[in-house]
Amino acid sequence: CGIVGVVGKPAREIILSGLTNLEYRGYDSAGIYLNDLNGNEYLTKAVGRILNLKEKLTPDEQGLVGIGHTRWATHGKPTVDNAHPHFDETKRFYLVHNGVIENFAELKEKYLQGVHFHSDTDTEVVVQLIGKIARDKNLDGFSAFKEALKLVKGSYAFLLVDNTEPDHVFIAKNKSPMMLGIGDGFNIIASDAISVMDQTKTFVDLHDGDVGDITKDSYTIETVDGKKVDREPHVLNIDPNAASKGAYEFYMLKEIDEQPGVMRHMSQNYLDDNGEPKVDQDILDAISKADRLYIFAAGTSYHAGLVGKTIFEHYTGIPTEVGLASEAGYHFPMMSKHPFFIFLTQSGETADSRVVLKEVNKRSIPSLTMTNVEGSTLSREATYTMLLGAGPEIAVASTKAYTAQIALQAVLAKALGEKLGKQEAKDWNLRQDLAMAAEGIQQIVDGKEKLKKLADDYLIKSRNAFYIGRGIDYAVALEAALKLKEVSYIQTEGFAAAELKHGTISLIEKGTPVVALINDPVTADLTRGNSQEVVSRGASVITIVGKDFAREGDDIVLPEINYYMSALLTVVPAQLLAYYASKDKGLDVDKPRNLAKSVTVE
Ligand code: G6P
Repeated sequence: CGIVGVVGKPAREIILSGLTNLEYRGYDSAGIYLNDLNGNEYLTKAVGRILNLKEKLTPDEQGLVGIGHTRWATHGKPTVDNAHPHFDETKRFYLVHNGVIENFAELKEKYLQGVHFHSDTDTEVVVQLIGKIARDKNLDGFSAFKEALKLVKGSYAFLLVDNTEPDHVFIAKNKSPMMLGIGDGFNIIASDAISVMDQTKTFVDLHDGDVGDITKDSYTIETVDGKKVDREPHVLNIDPNAASKGAYEFYMLKEIDEQPGVMRHMSQNYLDDNGEPKVDQDILDAISKADRLYIFAAGTSYHAGLVGKTIFEHYTGIPTEVGLASEAGYHFPMMSKHPFFIFLTQSGETADSRVVLKEVNKRSIPSLTMTNVEGSTLSREATYTMLLGAGPEIAVASTKAYTAQIALQAVLAKALGEKLGKQEAKDWNLRQDLAMAAEGIQQIVDGKEKLKKLADDYLIKSRNAFYIGRGIDYAVALEAALKLKEVSYIQTEGFAAAELKHGTISLIEKGTPVVALINDPVTADLTRGNSQEVVSRGASVITIVGKDFAREGDDIVLPEINYYMSALLTVVPAQLLAYYASKDKGLDVDKPRNLAKSVTVE
């Protein structure tokens, strides 16, 4: 979901292009409000792609002020009525909103009895409330907005137009991202800077609690109580990548926070209205002939492949091998009769993976690259490509590409399993799982303070650390350990929980941090036992546990999810622990020493 607002310049195309740039966040409907400052206003909404919205707009629908929105349904289905902008009863106020209003039912009940609603959204409650307050107290738009905000609880980035003074856009931010762009004779507001980089390079960072009044040549920022706050504009580096950091200190946290959007985008891009996977028929024809899948990758992508193996084997019944690309290039694995190769690579450029692909091509074996970068080398050289669509990943330590790779492998596994007639695949509600992943990740990132505290209390002073888990948790333990060691320089190992006692347990001393991951229904109790073994030897154990297996005293309890998709949640606290360990040690989180984002040497 995303928002874009413009004041002081023909707004329509700027908004549409900004929303298109925000597509990677995922959405299922879109809408735009335009006011030409000449007494004409236009409201247009459409379900589905931004293209549908474009097609609905007639040439005369233009404006010098406008607000636009892409919506990903939370309260209320993706319908035209539920799409933003929403308006109040008297059609004076128009509002777009990213975020979730927690107390909307209460507000409706308490203040809006008898008001006629046209949607099922939490957002409409807010715009109706603004309208009601303005009418009852005879207030101007900005004052009514601030009064309403005092009552609203939840996360939001709001853009509001009051058509009695349409040359203003009023804004408010809490927990949802929003930037103010400063132009020459116009101003622009958007979910991130990169989406409107073609309009301006000068931005004002907005903070939680900021409320603003934006006109074409001025902006004032204050608190809801009317206390002015100083927010100085700054010029963002021309590098379009650098520009997208917005209010974040580091990309790594931004990219961790983007993962709910990445899950929604995956669902929107790769599942149809019935939740059925949309995978190119040629890919399915080729891969369904395979008697064995071979996944090759490096680093974090390799770890995503380890999770993928369990998913593919469970939902398709095809044996799946996962290997390190750097090992396979010169010691090519023994082939089954009908192999199919899958390359996982965020960048699409990793030299180690390219070597394997060359061998694959020499042998005329069909292959698929799953990558985040369209037109990248591995994408061009493989038979087929599926794009992750996670949006640019800038931090060296990979986060959102990992979860996107797992989700995309799930899409392919479902499509393939269904084609092969596997009951497990047919019964699998992947759309629901991706929605639960999006919501679950959101809950985890909203509780990030707790992970900061754990990192500060247990990790930053430690020389070494361990992650343990079984099944999918073991695969996640490897990734979690890599994340922590690469950005914090704390030597960390990921271990199969039971394997620790066969040697490595001799490294456990008083206070050694051991993070136990517990999501596997079959082995949850056994892993508990393993964590007890290290507790008895003095370790400081942090538990990250699925809701169904939680016990009193667990540190992080994960929201509910299908076990096969559990890595999508389990990894997130580990990403945050790594982030805070690095940041609180004062390190350059995004650029750890000795590492590169894309490694084009063998
Ligand atoms: C580099 C990066 C890692 C990444 C690995 C594979 O080493 O530092 O974060 O996981 O390459 O990259 P790829 O682009 O192929 O996923």
